Amino acid sequence: MKVLLLGGGGREHALAWKLLADDPSLELICAPGNAGIAEICDCVPLKATDINGLAAFAQRAEIELTVVGPEGPLEAGIVDLFSQSGRRIFGPTHRAARIETSKAFAKKMMGKARVATAAASLHKDMGDAKRAVRQSGTPVVIKASGLAAGKGVVVARSVEEADRAIEMILGERIFGEAGAELLVEEFMAGEELSMFAITDGENVVPMLPAQDHKRLLDGDIGPNTGGMGAYAPVSLASSALTQQITDTILLPTLAALRDAGHPFTGLLYAGLMLTAEGPKVVEFNCRFGDPETEAILPLMKSSLLELVHSVASGESLRDAEPIEWLDAHAATTVIAAPGYPDAPCTGDTIRLPPCPNGIHIFHAGTRRDATTGELITAGGRVLAITGVGDSLAEAAACSREYAELVTFDGKQMRRDIGWRELERNARAS
Ligand code: AMP
Ligand code: GLY
Repeated sequence: MKVLLLGGGGREHALAWKLLADDPSLELICAPGNAGIAEICDCVPLKATDINGLAAFAQRAEIELTVVGPEGPLEAGIVDLFSQSGRRIFGPTHRAARIETSKAFAKKMMGKARVATAAASLHKDMGDAKRAVRQSGTPVVIKASGLAAGKGVVVARSVEEADRAIEMILGERIFGEAGAELLVEEFMAGEELSMFAITDGENVVPMLPAQDHKRLLDGDIGPNTGGMGAYAPVSLASSALTQQITDTILLPTLAALRDAGHPFTGLLYAGLMLTAEGPKVVEFNCRFGDPETEAILPLMKSSLLELVHSVASGESLRDAEPIEWLDAHAATTVIAAPGYPDAPCTGDTIRLPPCPNGIHIFHAGTRRDATTGELITAGGRVLAITGVGDSLAEAAACSREYAELVTFDGKQMRRDIGWRELERNARAS
């Protein structure tokens, strides 16, 4: 089968690796890919958001299945475009993808579905937004409604900080039209959990819950990033909690989307806060998470390809078997470029030591120099190193120790991936 994978990050390298592990005879092509993906399949230099170029390519190359990594092409309507010409594609339509691309729409759907989430008010006017901050008190969360590459959220500890975020988003439009509307949202305290489910629009096949590390620095301090590391499984996510999340969050949200005339198929990602009152939604995403995917897929025994193919073919998941997982732990350390997340500095030579057993090296922002063949940094997040072991302590140590050996100028990485779980384990023993 000929499969096209869109994107070029660590998530897509992990997806490419897993799809090929599921079927080594797969003819996989990635657009645009990166230096690591190019080692395992063909890459074509088409941007993932060039949906017309991709449609023409898919027709020429007789692509039988397309898997979309990032949200950009989904927002641009690639699923609508491919479906119109009868081409099999895994992901939601433009309108259904608004569960991620419009926080205002997501709140509306959650309201209809009675899904637990932070109380929020929506504002286009700076004065109104500032008044809402004074009513809610601090800490308070200010969020651009549209897509802002994971940077559109400010957890403000003071009224002044909240006011400044409102001025930057609504006044200075630092996120462009994504900040034409913003949410003033109640702060939720607790641990975060990422839960992915593959869905046909009605039924879900949940994946192993994971925990992301959004802050840049050890101990969960510093600015928010796309994610500096992840681990799975998470002991807090018992099978009872996973079932509760499925029944009270995932299924009702999918029902609300169907009722609104926008059934969602593909991968629904619930970013959750495990609060004292139970799990509440921080955000939904309409695609696999990054770097959680790099931690989850190495533990997946069942075929991802079969599930993705079924959903893209319009088949029902009602009788789908639960996914089988290795009885092991995975931890992923992201290695980022200097200046990430604000202004990453790229173009540095990377030295990668040989890969030991139990380690997966997933490339994110990397490219090969055309003349020297050297590996060069080409993005904010450069590599995702996943260690797999019998315990989280072992997996995290493998991941960290290998990541320490990777060199390029100004490399940034966290050295405490899984710290909350490791502390929990230490308290329990
Ligand atoms: P989002 O882009 O909505 O996932 O937000 C990015 C990060 O900001 C989340 O992963 C949380 O760490 C934090 N955050 C967002 N909303 C809230 C909230 N209502 N309460 C506490 N933290 C939040
Ligand atoms: N890890 C966060 C995200 O993929 O949005």
